[in-house]
Amino acid sequence: MARTDMTATEIRQSFQDFYKSKGHEIVPSSPVVLPADPTLLFVNAGMNQFKEIFLGARVSQYKRVADSQKCIRVSGKHNDLEEVGHDTYHHTFFEMLGNWSFGDYYKRESIAWGWELLTKVWGLPKNRLWVTVYKDDDEALAIWKEVTDVDPTHILKFAEKDNFWEMGETGPCGPCSEIHFDRTPNGCTADMINAGKQEVIEIWNHVFIQYNRRSDGSLEELPAKHVDTGMGFERVTSVIQNKTSNYDTDIFQPVIQALVKASGHPYEGQSAIAMRVIADHLRTLAFAIGDGVLPSNDGRGYVLRRLLRRAVRYGRKIGFTRPFMTPLLPTLEATMGKAYPELVQRRQEIARAILAEEESFSSALDRGLALFEDVATAAATSPDKVFPGEEAFKLYDTYGFPLDLTVVMAREKGMEVDEKRFAELMDEQRRRARDARRAAAADGDADLVSDLVAKGVRTVFTGYSGLEGAAGVVAIVQKGAEGANAVMDQLAEGAEGALLLSESPFYAEKGGQLGDHGVIVGPAGEFEVTDTRQPTEGVVMHVGRMKRGTLAKGARVTAKVNDVRRAAVARHHTATHLLQHALREIVSRDIKQAGSMVAAERLRFDFAYYQALTAEQLTSVERRVNELVILNDPVKTTEMALKDVQGSGIIALFDEKYGDTVRVVSVGGYSRELCGGTHVAATGTIGPFRILSECSIASGVRRIEAVAGLPAYEVMCQERGMLEGLAKRFSASPAEVPDRVEALAGQVKALEKQIKDQELAVALQKVDGILGQACDVKGMKVIAATVGELTAEALKSLAEAVLAKVAPAVVVLGASNAGKAQFIVLVSPEWVKQGVHAGKLIKDVAKVAGGGGGGQPGMANAGGKDPGKLDEAIQKAKEIVGTMVKG
Ligand code: SER
Repeated sequence: MARTDMTATEIRQSFQDFYKSKGHEIVPSSPVVLPADPTLLFVNAGMNQFKEIFLGARVSQYKRVADSQKCIRVSGKHNDLEEVGHDTYHHTFFEMLGNWSFGDYYKRESIAWGWELLTKVWGLPKNRLWVTVYKDDDEALAIWKEVTDVDPTHILKFAEKDNFWEMGETGPCGPCSEIHFDRTPNGCTADMINAGKQEVIEIWNHVFIQYNRRSDGSLEELPAKHVDTGMGFERVTSVIQNKTSNYDTDIFQPVIQALVKASGHPYEGQSAIAMRVIADHLRTLAFAIGDGVLPSNDGRGYVLRRLLRRAVRYGRKIGFTRPFMTPLLPTLEATMGKAYPELVQRRQEIARAILAEEESFSSALDRGLALFEDVATAAATSPDKVFPGEEAFKLYDTYGFPLDLTVVMAREKGMEVDEKRFAELMDEQRRRARDARRAAAADGDADLVSDLVAKGVRTVFTGYSGLEGAAGVVAIVQKGAEGANAVMDQLAEGAEGALLLSESPFYAEKGGQLGDHGVIVGPAGEFEVTDTRQPTEGVVMHVGRMKRGTLAKGARVTAKVNDVRRAAVARHHTATHLLQHALREIVSRDIKQAGSMVAAERLRFDFAYYQALTAEQLTSVERRVNELVILNDPVKTTEMALKDVQGSGIIALFDEKYGDTVRVVSVGGYSRELCGGTHVAATGTIGPFRILSECSIASGVRRIEAVAGLPAYEVMCQERGMLEGLAKRFSASPAEVPDRVEALAGQVKALEKQIKDQELAVALQKVDGILGQACDVKGMKVIAATVGELTAEALKSLAEAVLAKVAPAVVVLGASNAGKAQFIVLVSPEWVKQGVHAGKLIKDVAKVAGGGGGGQPGMANAGGKDPGKLDEAIQKAKEIVGTMVKG
């Protein structure tokens, strides 16, 4: 009997208990991003974090492991986005229960244990289980018959598409054997397996990894054979709980019920689709943001933005016009926060990022929806009923509608989008993005590196303890003309490339710390290292140039790290840890690193935080770091098992890939971080620490730039130089400068006032002369005159003084001011009522002097380029003012 009473949490636990009993180590899920693997946007399978072990580049401490892995499938080879919500068993985010053998057990145990768990532990009915094997894998077929009591007619063969699993375009792969579950009322037939039916779904995939797919498409045999299984947790839960939909399990129901309550819509029909999409996308957003990805305009961030916008639009369908996603987070936390504590720890960041995105899309969504409706209505009457690519692009570009959203909306109206035209319009952006992705994936180099790994090239890092050491040259890579690199036996003088050594004290760039510089001295030449990189675990490339002579593969060399530079880098690295500690202490406990760059000259520290730090906070943080420096606390490194890190309070980075054993760098008793970098022995060595700037680099991400050691001293010298320069200008001591500046500012203000008063006095002297120029136009008193040189302000005061004496009247004055003409027109309310309009009048007047302007009916200002035309302009005023009077 199936254990229908088990909760999802119990099912997850019983999977882990079962594999523990079979000698497996239970390891944590990796984060959903592994930036160390640029071929992968998001983690899409449990095996991703073990890729290097399969390829032979890393050795695992354990031969058998099992876990529950957070996966996101929204792009590339494994993309389930279109199905989500419309069916009952695809998700953009899901958990994959998996067990692995690293060169240990193989098909027999994998199949036998899988069957035991499903049928004995979970009690699934055997007649409902179907099995598929790869068409050429008779070995797996025989094992199924031998070690299980599966109905032999339920074992089917399928070709590559279904039974040869590959991680992506490149990487580990092999034949697989899948287990499907039949929930049709009367039992299914063989043709219903792998036919995309909701009633017959794949629940578990056992992959027998034995190849590496290279970028040229060829398969390379791996040194050992491995097992990689993955079971859809949501699917198996629905099967065990005897539900027809994953969304009916206790994994999704709490959020769906919360949606029912908040929206007032029942969970049925179109509303049910909307609720499933929202419940699904909410999980992807929360987990990805929890692992440090933020919605943005490209890459991973754009995937999140797309999902969020789709969810918001589905929200509109069930009546949400205001942000509605964040109130669902506590429910999500309650269902998943125990298994994935990051949801709780990063609660604030998750809520903030989702809310900010919802708010920013909301108003554009309404306008975009209106445009969509107009265009769709027009397109519905067109002969081909195609939604134009231009309009889809406009929706994308102006209203932020991801193309897939427009496509979904068009499909709901039975329409296709002209995606070809859209693609043309997007081409420019696309090409740029593609180039960047290509550069990141560097497929050619990936092959070169996997060749080196296959040849057994490994470098032992010795640089934690020493900066100089003997080594053998195990491989040489020469940089080709167009950046294409090739493995060579020798490097000639002047050639650029990379050396790979048997052991090396050079630290390769990782964890934000830049690679070491230095020299590699051989029997017949010297290679200058200007960068050190590690393309994959264990492979260290000393990048640079043959400065003199030559070097051949196999040569014995001495590798010497530039120690002055290394020490400067170490100061900045330890300072970065202190900075993070001080930020957490002073600004917020929640502050979490989002990236860093540690160089010899400076450091950069990026962190998720929703607002700018105040000047006081920055000063306190800087002061705190300097205090910790003075304490001269020891910096210690220790090793521990990764599984012990969770819950220990040690800071681990969301996007780093860690081995089974990790290195912990601790400073004093207060800062503990997982870190592979090089550090000073005690904080005093860091020297002075100065923050240079704090700014925003993306929505919700702040960046601090700072300097430590001599560069910090130099900043202080520059500041002192500036102050001394100022003091000299004032013939004062530096301490007197602030008072002097204050006094100077006061003087300037007083002088300005004096000048203004004088100008006004001069202007007012002209009043009487101007009054004499009054004339009568249609019974209206008009004073139009030029008044020589005056500032704008004085001209206005003058006009007001004149009007005060003669009102009701129209006053038009022109003056020159710093080589330009300027005008003012004042009209008494009585004449405004009669139709005289200062703004209109001044427009025509200023035009004469090459200017323009306008204003209110009663008062207007304008300028002109040509003060020589002042008289002419004023004459014009007299002519046209009469035409404005009504009647
Ligand atoms: N890697 C395989 C999959 O994703 C099995 O875990 O299906």
